[in-house]
Formats: sequence, structure tokens, C-alpha cells
Amino acid sequence: MTDYKDLKIDTNIPEEEPARQEYFMVKCHELIEEFIIQNGVRPKFYVSTFGCQMNAHDSEKLIGILLKIGYDEAESEGEADFVIFNTCTVRENANQKLYGHLGSLKKKKETNPNMMIGICGCMMQQPEIVDYIKECYSFIDIVFGTFNFYKMAELLYRRMSGEKQVIEVLREPEKNVENLPERRKYSFKTGVNIMYGCNNFCTYCIVPYVRGRERSRTPEDIMDEIRKLVDQGVIEIMLLGQNVNSYGVNFMGESEIIKANPDYSFPNLLEEVCKIPEIKRVRFMTSHPKDLSDKLIDVIERNPKIARHIHLPVQSGSTEVLSKMNRRYTKEQYVALVEKIRNRIPDISLTTDIMVGFPGETEENFRDTLDVVRKCKYDQAFTFIYSIRTGTPAATMEQVSQDVVNDRFKRLLEVVRETSTVVSSRFAGQTKSILVECVNEQLPDYVTGRMDNNILVHFPGGKDLIGKFVDVKLTEPKGFYYIGEIAD
Ligand code: 5AD
Ligand code: SF4
Repeated sequence: MTDYKDLKIDTNIPEEEPARQEYFMVKCHELIEEFIIQNGVRPKFYVSTFGCQMNAHDSEKLIGILLKIGYDEAESEGEADFVIFNTCTVRENANQKLYGHLGSLKKKKETNPNMMIGICGCMMQQPEIVDYIKECYSFIDIVFGTFNFYKMAELLYRRMSGEKQVIEVLREPEKNVENLPERRKYSFKTGVNIMYGCNNFCTYCIVPYVRGRERSRTPEDIMDEIRKLVDQGVIEIMLLGQNVNSYGVNFMGESEIIKANPDYSFPNLLEEVCKIPEIKRVRFMTSHPKDLSDKLIDVIERNPKIARHIHLPVQSGSTEVLSKMNRRYTKEQYVALVEKIRNRIPDISLTTDIMVGFPGETEENFRDTLDVVRKCKYDQAFTFIYSIRTGTPAATMEQVSQDVVNDRFKRLLEVVRETSTVVSSRFAGQTKSILVECVNEQLPDYVTGRMDNNILVHFPGGKDLIGKFVDVKLTEPKGFYYIGEIAD
């Protein structure tokens, strides 16, 4: 990354990325310095993130850019001069939450003339939402989408230098820009995108429309990024993609590794990452059951660095519903896959996503879902009520009545609760390696960390343990977390 002092800001605007964004970061920085002279305080930003791990990771990049520009980070939305919402649109309630926030910020903006509001992320990829914002939320300053979020500095500069409302949303990915600043939540662990988009077109899901077609980064590109992260002290990596098991179907850019081995796929990449000595733990998310190969199970089995955790969304336990969802597996195939994984890797933790109320779901279909939950013994299940997404095939199918859906959702929660409390307490008495994340908020003499299956563990210890792996005996199972003590 170029240093400010090395850049001549009065030269022509660079065409190439990320040089172009570096240029605009310098220009924004100048305006922020002017603001400080005029107002006597450094302005503050707050990034509010909705949705999945991919969004959380994109937000780390937005924060990196804003810090580089010269903003300070605010503790809350209410204290910030620039609030940016990185939105999710996977379910309707995510959209409603955003409108709630915008309503309350409007009043704040009336009393603070310097205040700016930006919105980006998946929701902005839907043209009707952008039209609605233009019409009903004219006080919003900047709008951009998932394909150009790296351009935030440029768009912010346009707004700061006088444009009233800057809206730029691309219909398709134009280019992939990496190597921008990024502020990681933890210095010792982070996510790395290995692919973008999704080609699966599950009939309920908006993601393929708002994140575009599947495109994988080359192994060279990913490994370069990981080596840089290692130089900065990272010891745990989470490889991120909507469907990591189809990594390698379409690469962005030339790769010598792929030329030499055209069959290179996700398990190869996982093994490469495990070979980096400084990387002590590798996670990945999300796995589509239809693409989870024997090769992947082999690689997990023989690499102790790979976390014993697979997030394997089932969505429904009914073959009939799965077919209407275009998931491309049956109930029996899913259950058989879970059995195969458990036979090969007995200490694996499985988590899942389940939806109730998909169009046409019958009581019998729903009972199949409960049956799968009981059979698969998930450590954790994320449960959702089906939400109509305009433009997806399921939106025009016959919907299930709200009362029936609510009743099924309650019953599903009960079964999930019963099974996962039993399952997740199965490690009681064992000693596990915990990566310590922080001092415990409620108990200052305790620290909090995670087992490789992502479950939280709290145990007595000091802040010197943060960022270290510690062997901890799990003394008390508490449902979704454990209390432990450092093992002798
Ligand atoms: N309604 C409800 N839940 C959905 N998901 C995706 N689309 C929808 C929808 N239209 C859930 C799926 C997915 C998770 C990220 O969100 O379970 O795995
Ligand atoms: Fe959506 Fe299906 Fe792609 Fe997951 S795999 S992002 S549920 S379309």
C-alpha cells in the first residue's frame, strides 16, 4: 500500500486499481484534515453490519479504508458522523431492520449538518430497493453495491466535494480488487475470501442474484494473501465462500498451479494452507452437501490443523421439498453423507441451517425435517422461517399459511433445543485446545475463546493469553458454551 507522502495527489487520477482508490483515500484524507481544522474534532464513523461472514469480512475492509482516510471509529451508531450500513437481504426481516435504523437516523441528521449516511451490500443490488431509497430516503448520502464496495473512498470523495447523493450500483462484477486496507477484528485470526458468488440457484435464495456468478480466486492469489496475514501474526484462517466445495469451477485470472493440475479443487487448497507452519488452525464455510467430496473428508481426516467442524446446511429434511428447493440431494443422501463423515471423523461437530414453511411444505414434509434433526445430532442449528424473495422462483409458488408456519417453527425449535443441548455437552470432562479471543465481559478474571468446533469456552485467565492456543479442561457444559480451567 502506497504511503500518503509518496503520492502526488495533483497528478491525473489513476485508472488502475487499487491505485485509483489509494488516490481517493488521499483526497478524502485532505478533506478530513480540513474538517478537523474547522470543527476542532476528528469525525467518527460507525459500520453497522447485517448478515453473513462474507459481509462481516467486507466490513473489515470498509473499516480499514475509513481509518486510512482519517476517521476515528465510534463506539455506537449514535456517536458517529458517518454511519454506513452493510446490508443483507437474505430474508425480509433484514430489510425491515435497515428501514428502522434509517428512520431514527433521519432525525439525528436534521440536528447534525455534517452527518452522512451510506448504505451498501446485498440489499442495494436490487434495483427496486435503490429506487425506493431514492424516492423515500433522499437524505441518504451514498449508495453502492456488492460488486464495487472497494470504491467507497471514491464515492465518498464525490459526496464530500459537493454531489448531493452518490448512487453507484453495478449489475455485474467488473473487476476484483484486493490489497486494500483492512482492519481485522482480531489480529490473530481472520477470514479470507476464496470465491465470490453462487451458481446454485436454490429456488428460495436471492444470493445468486445479488452476489453474482461463482468465481474463484486463484490459489496463488489466496496463498499470497495468507502469507501476508501470517507476517502480521495471523494463526487461524477461515476460508470463505458461499459454497467452498465448488471452489475451482471458474477461476478469475491465470494460474500456473491450475495449468499444472487442472483437477485442483477445494481439498487441494485446504492442504496447501495447512502446510504453512505458522497457521495453526484452518476453518471453512459454507459447504453445500451436494458437493462435499470424499477427497475433502480424507483431507480433513489427515490434517489435525483443520477444525473439526462442518457447517452443512440441510434446509429441509423432505426429499420432495429439497427437490422443489433445487438442492440436488435427497433426505437419504444427506443422512448418509452425515453418517459417512461421522464414521471417518468421529469428533466432528456439525452445524446446519434449516428452513420451515417453504411453499407447499406439508405436515409430513415437516416431520421429515424433525426426523433429520434427530438423526444428524447437530451441535447447533440455525433455524429460519421461509421468507419470500421477489424475483426468486419460490416467490410465485403457493405459500404456507402463517399460523401453520409459526406452529412448525416453534416445534422445530423445541426439537433443536433438546438435541443440541445433549450433543454439545458431549465434550464435558475432555481437554481441548482453545484459541483465546478476549477477556470475558462479565467476569474480568476469565478469558473467552473457541474450541475448533466454534463453541465458546470461558475459563480463568488473564489478557496475556489473548491470541494464544491454550489446553483447557471443559469442566461444566452450559448448553451453548462451556466453563473450563487450564489443563495441567
Ligand atoms: N427465507 C428464509 N431463509 C433463507 N435462507 C436463504 N434464503 C432464505 C429465504 N428466502 C437461509 C438458508 C441459508 C441461510 C444463510 O439463510 O437457510 O442457508
Ligand atoms: Fe443461496 Fe443455495 Fe447459493 Fe446457499 S447455495 S447462497 S442457499 S443459492
